[in-house]
Amino acid sequence: MRILLFTGKGGVGKSTVAAGTAALAAESGQRTLVLSTDPAHSLADAFDAVVGPDPTEVAPLLFVQQVDAQLRFEQSWAEIQRYLLSVLDVAGVDRLAAEELTVIPGAEEVLALLELRLHALSGEWDVIVVDCAPTAETLRLLALPEALGWYMQRVLPIERRVVRALKPVLTRATGVPMPGDGVIDAIERLHAELDEVRALLSGPDAGVRLVLTPENVVLAEARRSYTTLSLFGYRVDGVVANRVFPAGGGDDWRAGWVRAQDEVMTQVEESFDGLPVWRSVYRTREPVGVAALAELAREVYGADDPLAPARGHGPFRLIRHSSGAVLRLALPFVSRSEIDLARHGDELVVTVGSYRRLLTLPSGMARHRVSGARVEQGELQVRFEDDNRETTQ
Ligand SMILES: Nc1ncnc2c1ncn2[C@@H]1O[C@H](COP(=O)(O)OP(=O)(O)O)[C@@H](O)[C@H]1O
Ligand SMILES: [Mg+2]
Repeated sequence: MRILLFTGKGGVGKSTVAAGTAALAAESGQRTLVLSTDPAHSLADAFDAVVGPDPTEVAPLLFVQQVDAQLRFEQSWAEIQRYLLSVLDVAGVDRLAAEELTVIPGAEEVLALLELRLHALSGEWDVIVVDCAPTAETLRLLALPEALGWYMQRVLPIERRVVRALKPVLTRATGVPMPGDGVIDAIERLHAELDEVRALLSGPDAGVRLVLTPENVVLAEARRSYTTLSLFGYRVDGVVANRVFPAGGGDDWRAGWVRAQDEVMTQVEESFDGLPVWRSVYRTREPVGVAALAELAREVYGADDPLAPARGHGPFRLIRHSSGAVLRLALPFVSRSEIDLARHGDELVVTVGSYRRLLTLPSGMARHRVSGARVEQGELQVRFEDDNRETTQ
């Protein structure tokens, strides 16, 4: 099974290209589902079809779904939210303000991805195409389970025991309701499910495609997404430059745009060197409907296989050698001085700007010392030495 995700700035054509790619996949005989996690659902408009919260067949083998994030939210978060609300109530927080506090920005979209997990596990699909929300925010939020891993593994089980033992006393004494087993169960379940989604989306069967238009502002954002996606372990396997003006003919206005886009396209090719950069011309009308979308996608991919698995080994590797290991993490466009590294036991904390990832090192690495770090050709390399080994040999 292939999972293809499309992300990019608002309005660049994510939904169009995602829908077109899905249409092409279905045409080639793959049972395909395209779903959107963007709250601004536009798949129905692109396909010019009525699409509901369940997969709707819009062409042979082609199914479209607009995930009802609210429903998923109710199912996964409601219990935890009810508890938080009861705590805030005791704390004297106004009900409306409390409700706002218990809604994590972007949470709905992350929960929409839980739907993807169910579909992936169902074994029903050959291809799942995801029309994501703008930028890589959502995928970054998926790192939450990893960041919470330490807490979940070590603190939560203790908390559960402590809460059980002290609940009657504490609730009476402080008036603050203690979380019941149901709440802790709900947190653990949500954590495990989100972790599975992250594993799926950062696995070898998944690829992220960056959609952009040839404009400086859009390119700048796509470059930042590339860095962030790599930091969090997602494989970017291609770039789609959409709305490219065809050269030739026209007046000064058009010639001006063609020139300006040409310049940005040169930078696009340089920025994403090593990745396929597919192009799609600015059409004279909106590509709407299965036929128009498939035609656009056919032109985009040309002779390339739109479903080809991502080449290479992904952004993260750990190469062991006799006296230690080297961790390699792709971080395009970033210099060493922009990266902050910290070590906590078996975790390595990598910070780039306002983004932070907690990398859990494989077991047995806790005794290794970080002996150096450098950035080479868009890749962070962290060297670990096993001091014990050196002294005992
Ligand atoms: N290559 C293209 N030529 C002409 N119109 C396009 C092209 N790609 C997208 N559009 C139109 O641009 C608008 C925005 O595209 P959409 O795919 O909804 O963007 P996004 O999902 O990134 O917000 C839509 O009306 C769509 O039909
Ligand atoms: Mg869209």
